[in-house]
Amino acid sequence: MQITPYITEKQIQKKIKQLAREIQKDFKKDIHCIVILDGAMVFFADLMRELKKLNLNITYESMKVKSYDGTNSTGKINLQLDATKVKNKDILIIEDIIDTGLTAEFIINHLKKKKPKSLKLCALLDKKERTNTNADYVGFEVPDEFLVGYGLDYNEQHRDLPFIGILKS
Ligand code: IMP
Ligand code: MG
Repeated sequence: MQITPYITEKQIQKKIKQLAREIQKDFKKDIHCIVILDGAMVFFADLMRELKKLNLNITYESMKVKSYDGTNSTGKINLQLDATKVKNKDILIIEDIIDTGLTAEFIINHLKKKKPKSLKLCALLDKKERTNTNADYVGFEVPDEFLVGYGLDYNEQHRDLPFIGILKS
């Protein structure tokens, strides 16, 4: 397996500042973020601090879903940890990457039942070729390759890279 660098650490950090400004335009003061574990936690940690610089007040909790096995989506979504503080809040879902869009669709439908005041989705990466996106904010459109780094894993490896790379065998 080989990793070819695709998005640099610097590009990621610049994009996060842009995303924070976009988000700030739509939310008034309080945002309750739902971080989709495990992949989105690295992205969220950086995004949250940029949002704070723009005077937004962030609270958060996590949800955990699993759909991938190795480099393939299994098509079945398994909810392993649910969010509990959604009712009447302005919610921003934080996802690492959208591929088929099934995970995002599942999460949105699931959270809508909990009666949030509003619900938006922010994804760092979107494989646009493969899906009609359900994200309100997207960092980078990416090709239909398997990406690792900055929270994204291949069988739990490579989440610790500060950049995003393409994994090839
Ligand atoms: P979807 O349901 O097909 O949109 O898949 C979304 C989930 O699959 C993401 O939350 C990731 O956890 C995982 N995933 C999709 N593509 C990749 C990738 O290229 N690298 C690592 N994880 C991925
Ligand atoms: Mg994920």
